[in-house]
Amino acid sequence: MTVIVVDSADQVAAQAADLVVEGLAGWSNPLLGVATGSSPLGLYAELAQRRSRGRLDLSGVRGFALDEYVGLGPSDSRSYAAFVRDRIESPLGLERGAIRVPAGDTADPAGYAADYDREIRASGGVHVQVLGIGTNGHIGFNEPYSSLGSRTRVVELTAATRLANARFFEHVDEVPRAAITQGIATISEARRLVLVAVGEEKAEAVAAAVEGPVTTRVPASALQLHADAVLVLDRAAASQL
Ligand code: GLP
Repeated sequence: MTVIVVDSADQVAAQAADLVVEGLAGWSNPLLGVATGSSPLGLYAELAQRRSRGRLDLSGVRGFALDEYVGLGPSDSRSYAAFVRDRIESPLGLERGAIRVPAGDTADPAGYAADYDREIRASGGVHVQVLGIGTNGHIGFNEPYSSLGSRTRVVELTAATRLANARFFEHVDEVPRAAITQGIATISEARRLVLVAVGEEKAEAVAAAVEGPVTTRVPASALQLHADAVLVLDRAAASQL
């Protein structure tokens, strides 16, 4: 596990963008794993800016999203499918649908999740996986006590996570109670993991993930076992290290 600490959110974005570009370089069919949430927005904006300046061509990139709320389809603006379309595919110049997102509106979420996992395996493997971290140490929607061997599946969201994500909904009661998420083992199969964290509210989870034991209590601690996991942090997120 490599930890990079920089001064500002802009520098987090720039450093993470370098790691993503480097990790995708040289592959004829580059596969990018994307996270949603606020943390990687700066990274996606930085990649979009490099593209608009003609310094980056990501048009051949395909990939997979980590997760989706059960019950939200792609036409729902609060779905991760909408996030991927509007915040990643369009600004980065990826083909529409290049990044697969679990279908939150499927009739059979459990069966769908298993198929999604098989699809990731069959793809030959993700080259770079972008990650954020929840304040409780979750990655994707792998809440504390998820097995380190977990695969893509349906999970119940904790009250803390639903509250943390309520800002994207009108009321916390509207936040779905379940999600489809790639498992910790699925995520760990990516060749490179780039986790970005910004701000004081992530400091405790970051410290537990980096300096604590590898434990299901802190899903992000699984990154300690990965051969090429890089955490890019601003000073506030690193303040408890
Ligand atoms: C969400 C997502 C995660 C994300 C995390 C942190 O619940 N499922 O993939 O990393 O929470 O979100 P944020 O970056 O907005 O703090």
